[in-house]
Amino acid sequence: MKIGVLTSGGDAPGMNAAIRAVVRKALYHGCEAFGIKRGYSGLITGEIVPLNSRSVSDILQKGGTILQSARCPEFKTPEGQAKAREQLEKLELNGLVVIGGDGSFQGAQLLNELGFLTVGIPGTIDNDIGCTDYSIGFDTAVNTVLDSLNKIRDTASSHNRVYVVEVMGKNAGFIAVGAGLTGGAEAILIPENPVDLDEVCRKITESSKLGKSHCIVLVAEGYYEDPISADQSSGFRVGKYLADKTDCDTRITVLGHIQRGGTPTFFDRKLATLMGNKAVEMLLNGETGQMIGMVNNRIQTFPLEQAINTKKQVEPWELELTGIMSSI
Ligand code: ADP
Ligand code: F6P
Repeated sequence: MKIGVLTSGGDAPGMNAAIRAVVRKALYHGCEAFGIKRGYSGLITGEIVPLNSRSVSDILQKGGTILQSARCPEFKTPEGQAKAREQLEKLELNGLVVIGGDGSFQGAQLLNELGFLTVGIPGTIDNDIGCTDYSIGFDTAVNTVLDSLNKIRDTASSHNRVYVVEVMGKNAGFIAVGAGLTGGAEAILIPENPVDLDEVCRKITESSKLGKSHCIVLVAEGYYEDPISADQSSGFRVGKYLADKTDCDTRITVLGHIQRGGTPTFFDRKLATLMGNKAVEMLLNGETGQMIGMVNNRIQTFPLEQAINTKKQVEPWELELTGIMSSI
């Protein structure tokens, strides 16, 4: 069997560990392994390279993806799909592992419908994919945010300031809630739960009166649906509002792509290894159109279609608990 692997969409720490697992498991079972460069772009242009055990050595601990990643609008067109199909047939690839987010899963499902044995591994820092508690990269990204919050707290408390920190997550608030709960944010603003900004102002003013040396307000980048430009981002808009409506010295930090890099945590490496292993197992069994998830600490499989159509929800109790923990 010839098994291909690609990484698509935003890169995520742990993608390399997943590539390594797919390749090593495939080789263990006597398959040939191939890496497709730059996601669906490489599938269209035929940038496909054979991978052996050495090709994936020394990558387990590295962020990013050795196969590189891309967003490829051409793959959404029938012409792009026909070119991809040609390449798959030319190389006689008979199994494909797609590592990426929900967009990448839609591409994987399409290949499945075209008759190619395709399975998906959730890889995105956003953690917004259905049918899995965690996607690869989320844990590392949240830890990066926590590390940044610790540093921001040092300077915030030294200057009695309010810090508005914008984090990634596309249209979802998983990073904001994860980091807010464990990093002690005074307020968390996520698209799933719009709040009254005046209420946030009141809380900040009150806590300052009661002797709190500083405040951290975490804002998910997708809080406002229509961020127009960098200085109109959700974080900037919230920061400007708080600065205007309170007497607090306010600063705004947009953490940005720093959240996508760095060495993957134990959790992400393990998740990636288990998922890569399972993906090849499925292909060997001829199972297609499935994704691998981790639910209740167990590796499980679900139809790609179900994952695509499931809107994963931020747990309301996590938000509630954050409120309790940060009450003045
Ligand atoms: P992510 O996978 O992280 O959600 P994107 O949404 O940007 O990232 O999707 C990554 C790539 O997956 C896109 O650039 C495109 O090549 C492919 N893709 C996304 N949506 C579709 C779709 N509906 N049909 C086919 N391919 C898609
Ligand atoms: O999906 C991962 C992610 O980092 C999102 O959190 C963010 O909205 C987006 O990708 C940024 O994409 P780009 O790399 O194109 O700037």
